Amino acid sequence: MVNPAAESEPRGEAVTLFDAVGGEPTFRKLVDEFYAGIATDPLLRPLYPEEDLGPANERMRLFLMQYWGGPNTYSAQRGHPRLRMRHAPFRIGPAERDAWLRHMRRAVDSLDLPPAIASELWNYLERAAYFMVNVMEDPAGPA
Ligand code: HEM
Repeated sequence: MVNPAAESEPRGEAVTLFDAVGGEPTFRKLVDEFYAGIATDPLLRPLYPEEDLGPANERMRLFLMQYWGGPNTYSAQRGHPRLRMRHAPFRIGPAERDAWLRHMRRAVDSLDLPPAIASELWNYLERAAYFMVNVMEDPAGPA
């Protein structure tokens, strides 16, 4: 039976960012662009334990799709995200964070999203990247 209250909800409220950006193909493009940058990054590439970046690409894509309201495949396969804990084995200082964000910025820009959606996505990614830092001092920088 149709719920009349739900039917009169403003349409925008039920639309997830996942749907608004075009679903999985858009996340695929985002993450492919991002990993194309990682593949050639002299600071970040050595952090990735696997020779093949394909599985890491898929984990990231499934996580972001789930976060933004798409299918829960990430958690079905990997369990609770616990992203800070999962990043603990990797040295992530300000330089790694900034390099990660540079690749992600380029990837977000490549999608040509409406500005309001792009900034919602970007604000989250930027906050999440700051949250993932686990080494505060940056030996590459000035003492
Ligand atoms: C701040 C800089 C960051 C660095 C240097 C970094 C690096 C890494 C590395 C080396 C891995 C292991 C690759 C693999 O899955 O085999 C990884 C995994 C992952 N990262 Fe990051 N990461 C960063 C930030 C983030 C952020 C901000 C997010 C989410 C918005 C994220 C999401 C993920 C996910 C979902 C995985 C796979 C976790 C799993 O299921 O095992 N990362 N990251």
